[in-house]
Amino acid sequence: MANMCIPWFLLLQFLILLGLECEAEVPAIIVFGDSSVDAGNNNQIPTIARSDFEPYGRDYVGGQPTGRFSNGRIPTDFISEAFGLRPIVPAYLDPMYNISDFAIGVTFASAGSGYDNATSDVLGLMK
Ligand SMILES: *[C@@H]1O[C@H](CO)[C@@H](O)[C@H](O)[C@H]1NC(C)=O
Ligand SMILES: *[C@@H]1O[C@H](CO)[C@@H](O)[C@H](O)[C@H]1NC(C)=O
Repeated sequence: MANMCIPWFLLLQFLILLGLECEAEVPAIIVFGDSSVDAGNNNQIPTIARSDFEPYGRDYVGGQPTGRFSNGRIPTDFISEAFGLRPIVPAYLDPMYNISDFAIGVTFASAGSGYDNATSDVLGLMK
């Protein structure tokens, strides 16, 4: 009988967690990282780590390179959309967006960045 209690207890816990998740609201998504989540910050800085040329962005809306290291959207864009926010997370340095836009999502990610200074030094990013 004791064995029967464990699954029910876990199920109850799962349902409680599920309930909490449904009630939770995500007001914004703030992104820090490297090229995997850079949405175009490097377009605005002098660096060789960039993706503002074709074929990058060919499957993005408009088919133009955005500075994302991808043919289309990047994971953080999909996460933002899944949370019911915008379908994209704009880059902090993108002149098309302002502080009001960043209230629901922004990425500070910069391709070539790393925890250790040597990461950017090796790419010649320090000019
Ligand atoms: C940001 O831009 C939007 C239009 O894109 C404008 O309505 C809003 O007032 C701007 N906010 C600031 C703080 O400049
Ligand atoms: C990394 O570089 C910055 C900027 O040049 C410097 O202020 C900092 O001390 C460096 N950190 C290390 C661990 O060398």
